[in-house]
Amino acid sequence: MDYKKLFDLTGKVCIVTGGTGYLGSENVKALKDFGATVVIADIRASEERWANAVQAEGDMFVPIDIADAESVRNCYKTVFEKYGRIDVVVDTAVFGAGFGIESQLEHMEDTTFMKGIDGSLGSAFRCVHEVIPYMKKTGGSIITYGSMYGVVSPDLRIYGDSDQRQPANYGAGKAGVQQFTRYAAGALAPYGIRVNCVIPGPFPNPKSKADNDGFNEILANKTMLGRTGVNHEMAGAVLLLASDASSFMTGSSITVDGGWTAW
Ligand SMILES: NC(=O)c1ccc[n+]([C@@H]2O[C@H](COP(=O)([O-])OP(=O)(O)OC[C@H]3O[C@@H](n4cnc5c(N)ncnc54)[C@H](O)[C@@H]3O)[C@@H](O)[C@H]2O)c1
Repeated sequence: MDYKKLFDLTGKVCIVTGGTGYLGSENVKALKDFGATVVIADIRASEERWANAVQAEGDMFVPIDIADAESVRNCYKTVFEKYGRIDVVVDTAVFGAGFGIESQLEHMEDTTFMKGIDGSLGSAFRCVHEVIPYMKKTGGSIITYGSMYGVVSPDLRIYGDSDQRQPANYGAGKAGVQQFTRYAAGALAPYGIRVNCVIPGPFPNPKSKADNDGFNEILANKTMLGRTGVNHEMAGAVLLLASDASSFMTGSSITVDGGWTAW
């Protein structure tokens, strides 16, 4: 066994949805570093300012709207027509609903709740479902993104009325992503497609003002390691699941949360 080659992604075509985002952009860099051809798929990919900012990192930009099955289908079709295969999908993108007053459970409208569920769980379904016809030709690896708040509830006391408060639909949808991952793993195993989930803990984006207003410290104190995560710290789990190093892993979840959910 040549263990040095276990993580080698040479010849693999990887798509990162949300590839211009805080965690997604590091997924792109890590997969590239290990030899993959990497497609950045994002709703912002068609916007010049985003495309320019990350152009150096990826091999191709394809616009995708994870809210729309046809858009997801078109994205995969474009990639397949260009490269003739899709080996890995890292489904990092998310959208939410229920901010401001609606982030409080008692004020959330039914339609808002469902939109947020769609932004996490519905979009994960689309990103897995639409790649099946392509990936079943070669086998592959799909990595979904859960959240620590799909495992435990946010402690609402630390959020107060701040914009950082996660609405009720976010964690509910992310919990669903973890379960959907298990289902998809079972359903797609006969095609040689593995499906696993990564579960990030607190990774506040340093560019976000609210994250810098002392809130980080509150988050940091809730992890065992006493700090929040930095975006490159998700890459190890993603590389493991994308590569042959995880060839016997499917239906599993890898938690990267500094211990947040372990106590
Ligand atoms: N950052 C954290 O602390 C944290 C914690 C737990 C889980 N997560 C999960 O990790 C993933 C990445 O989070 P992040 O912090 O990088 O977020 P981010 O907001 O930086 O990135 C999200 C990306 O999704 C894209 N996007 C939004 N709506 C879209 C749509 N309709 N179609 C296509 N793309 C769309 C955005 O353009 C952006 O690039 C998400 O699934 C998130 O729920 C993040």
